[in-house]
Amino acid sequence: MIFVTGGAGFIGSNFITDWLQHSQELVLNLDKLSYAGNLENLKPISDHPQYIFQQGDIADEKLITELLVKYQPRAMINFAAESHVDRSIHGPDDFIQTNIVGTFRLLESVRDYWNQLPSEQRQNFRFLHISTDEVYGSLEKNAPAFKETHQYQPNSPYSASKASSDHLVRAYYHTYGLPVLTTNCSNNYGPYQFPEKLIPLCIHNAISNQPLPIYGDGQQIRDWLYVIDHCQAIVNVLEKGQVGEVYNIGGCNEKANIEVVNTLCQILDQQQPRTDGKSYADQITYVKDRPGHDRRYAIDASKIQQQLAWRPKETFESGMAKTVTWYLSHFDWVNNVTTGVYRQWVEQQYS
Ligand code: NAD
Ligand code: TYD
Repeated sequence: MIFVTGGAGFIGSNFITDWLQHSQELVLNLDKLSYAGNLENLKPISDHPQYIFQQGDIADEKLITELLVKYQPRAMINFAAESHVDRSIHGPDDFIQTNIVGTFRLLESVRDYWNQLPSEQRQNFRFLHISTDEVYGSLEKNAPAFKETHQYQPNSPYSASKASSDHLVRAYYHTYGLPVLTTNCSNNYGPYQFPEKLIPLCIHNAISNQPLPIYGDGQQIRDWLYVIDHCQAIVNVLEKGQVGEVYNIGGCNEKANIEVVNTLCQILDQQQPRTDGKSYADQITYVKDRPGHDRRYAIDASKIQQQLAWRPKETFESGMAKTVTWYLSHFDWVNNVTTGVYRQWVEQQYS
């Protein structure tokens, strides 16, 4: 069996659902169910005979140890994190607690479990840590894309906390020999992404007749990857990755934010035109910039492409069209997550 943490969030829930379509193995999902964790994301597979859910915190060493001993997983994949940059600017504490302290506690539980495994299982065990390209900091316009060897220069409390967790994972390999793997991925988009992030926020606002907020001049560049392509890259790293190695994952889809939102508006104009015949692009509104806003991220994914034979299947256009279709046909899901607490956040962030 494999042990997944943070599997009720955006990427984790897509990963588990995708995994169950290809594998006979059991999946244990441990998730704290923070504001971003939502069991509705897993509704299609909640009764699947290979799926087990446990609510809990990655920092709860006693619980994690009990689960490890009970289920004897061959691998752990750590998705659990606080993941939103803007929230980390308003309140970094949860980011330090989960992303740094939580990862440390999780590593301690795993190290203890791994030390007691019989030698063959010990050798085959893997701890796969899911991280972000944001740890590398911001790139100049024409600078080469991030390679795995790029210097860490995190600029937000979110990226600094993820960078710390990456360093801890690395240290557990070098110091204790724990068989770890780390992936640093670019911006994901797709079904079940919480509508605080750019793409789902803009889809939600567009059809609710609200402004589409663009920070600063909208020329910040991100490298977008469809979430299922990310999930398949993770499977490749888990099964074929070299222990102790880092793999950058990206879509080769560098886009300025304004370009992303314009593409989104064009797709919405086709799939669900506004009743007044105008374009959703008319709702675009430039707002105050994010403090410390990184200008550009870009991933050089040649290592995972060449060594592990992974390539994204979706283009930006096909992935975006799928994403818009999904959100338009899951309006109930969006409504359920945009509760009072979410509205308070929007009020605080965009007022
Ligand atoms: P998310 O915020 O949608 O989900 C995070 C999940 O972790 C939630 O289900 C939440 O309840 C759970 N969680 C939070 N704190 C926890 C704790 N202490 N114990 C147990 N569970 C806890 O995030 P996501 O977008 O799915 O990201 C998943 C991982 O991928 C994160 O580590 C993130 O840094 C990384 N990542 C995300 C992106 C992206 O574009 N979304 C890109 C690269 C890397
Ligand atoms: P986001 O989805 O928050 O991801 P990240 O900060 O991890 O890259 O933001 C993506 C880009 O979109 C980022 O450059 C910030 C920008 N952005 C806006 O312009 N307006 C918004 O309302 C949000 C949420 C993000």
